[in-house]
Amino acid sequence: METFAKILLSFFLVSNLTILAIAVDTLTLNATQSIRDGETLVSEGGKFELGFFSPGSSTNRYLGIWYSNISVQTVVWVANRQSPLKDFSGILKLTNKGILVLQTQKGNTVWSSNSSRSARSTPVAKLLISGNLIVKEENENDPENFLWQSFDDPSDTLLQGMKLGRNLITGLDRYLTSWKSPDDPSPGNFTYRYEIGGFPECVLREGSIVRFRPGPWNGVRFSGTPELKPNSLFTFGVVINEKEVYYSYKLRNSSILSMMVLTQKGYWQRHKWIEKTKAWDVYVTVQMDECDNYGLCGSYGSCNSLDSPRCSFLKGFVPKFPEKWDNNKDWSSGCVRKTPLNCSTDGFLKYSGVKLPDSRKSWFDFSINLEECRNLYMRNCSCTAYSNLDVRNGGSGCLLALVC
Ligand SMILES: *[C@@H]1O[C@H](CO)[C@@H](O)[C@H](O)[C@H]1NC(C)=O
Ligand SMILES: *[C@@H]1O[C@H](CO)[C@@H](O)[C@H](O)[C@H]1NC(C)=O
Ligand SMILES: *[C@@H]1O[C@H](CO)[C@@H](O)[C@H](O)[C@H]1NC(C)=O
Ligand SMILES: *[C@@H]1O[C@H](CO)[C@@H](O)[C@H](O)[C@H]1NC(C)=O
Ligand SMILES: *[C@@H]1O[C@H](CO)[C@@H](O)[C@H](O)[C@H]1NC(C)=O
Ligand SMILES: *[C@@H]1O[C@H](CO)[C@@H](O)[C@H](O)[C@H]1NC(C)=O
Ligand SMILES: *[C@@H]1O[C@H](CO)[C@@H](O)[C@H](O)[C@H]1NC(C)=O
Repeated sequence: METFAKILLSFFLVSNLTILAIAVDTLTLNATQSIRDGETLVSEGGKFELGFFSPGSSTNRYLGIWYSNISVQTVVWVANRQSPLKDFSGILKLTNKGILVLQTQKGNTVWSSNSSRSARSTPVAKLLISGNLIVKEENENDPENFLWQSFDDPSDTLLQGMKLGRNLITGLDRYLTSWKSPDDPSPGNFTYRYEIGGFPECVLREGSIVRFRPGPWNGVRFSGTPELKPNSLFTFGVVINEKEVYYSYKLRNSSILSMMVLTQKGYWQRHKWIEKTKAWDVYVTVQMDECDNYGLCGSYGSCNSLDSPRCSFLKGFVPKFPEKWDNNKDWSSGCVRKTPLNCSTDGFLKYSGVKLPDSRKSWFDFSINLEECRNLYMRNCSCTAYSNLDVRNGGSGCLLALVC
């Protein structure tokens, strides 16, 4: 059984960005130098800056990367999120083995980078034009061989070229965690992460509770986020193959400052810098309305923000607790079948324009079409819904929702 086939996205190639960056970047840190509080490393072109900062009204010092050219402090990455420095004595060094270490004056290490191997020749650290802080061997130009990169350890911000998702070979899992508060970059309550139980799907959690999911990728967009459509600001895509699962985007015009952020209140937003007002504008909040609250209408319920009440039930189902449903507007218990399922006689009903069900416990196959999908699983009692995986070119692939 083929579990992963390839979706090749030709409209962007993330690694090209990185290669381009190396060729023109000149600012480096080597094992005989260091960066003290007050000193910074600036990327070629001056878009990003690495150094020490204090967030909001805090006096704690953190090592981080921010947009260097704008008047509003905008930190996109923090090294020592959970171990702030209490004074200005912080110093960033690179060891001969290629490990970045952040130390106090007394030589206590409060943060260090991590690498699966040691440098075989002279290591250097660079801040690339993409905002990616990397450690590599001096003459190494293949991003695959970098010893470490900050893009693999995201904070709450997804910059262009970063991958949100997993390397299935190494197990590397790049996900976002909100800041605790404007004064505290330590991990807050929200995470946004690719989960890979069934067909991979992004999930936003508050602690362990699922709050939102954009729906499975359908070849063009996430099925539950019609607002994230092709646009003039950026291109985006998802790669799902046997090696990797990730979402990434590329700005159409790299002079424009724009990024995705998981906010402290748990919103997944795109921000765009407006030079005229010298402020960040919320270009889009991916959670649009109440129906984006995970499981609002419960199992076999259907949510439509234009309806009142928002929740209705699918044909053949009734609310599990009718009184709760009608009087308390508590839909979370969902619905149950009016009559028990009979797999040998019952069939499927078609629903269009809906977000696909939670796919984390689904089964999928890129190689068969909708008709084959239906014929294979029509009489299988654990298959409760099916759809195309990819809606392009008339549709292909098969995604099955299973009883869990
Ligand atoms: C580190 O960089 C400095 C400044 O470019 C240079 O003088 C020094 O020789 C370099 N050290 C090593 C070990 O490459
Ligand atoms: C940053 O500002 C400097 C000085 O104003 C300017 O030369 C440079 O082009 C700017 N870089 C970016 C990326 O906007
Ligand atoms: C560093 O890497 C090792 C091995 O890959 C891992 O066990 C450890 O948790 C990592 N430490 C940090 C701080 O990421
Ligand atoms: C995180 O959740 C806890 C427990 O629900 C709550 O007390 C705290 O205020 C939340 N923190 C933020 C930053 O929302
Ligand atoms: C990119 O954006 C910059 C800044 O807004 C603008 O000056 C430039 O003309 C744009 N380039 C293209 C190719 O649209
Ligand atoms: C399903 O329907 C068929 C045909 O009406 C019937 O023979 C069978 O007993 C039903 N099975 C169940 C589990 O109700
Ligand atoms: C139904 O389909 C699932 C998923 O392919 C499979 O694991 C299960 O064995 C099938 N059950 C039957 C009775 O064919």
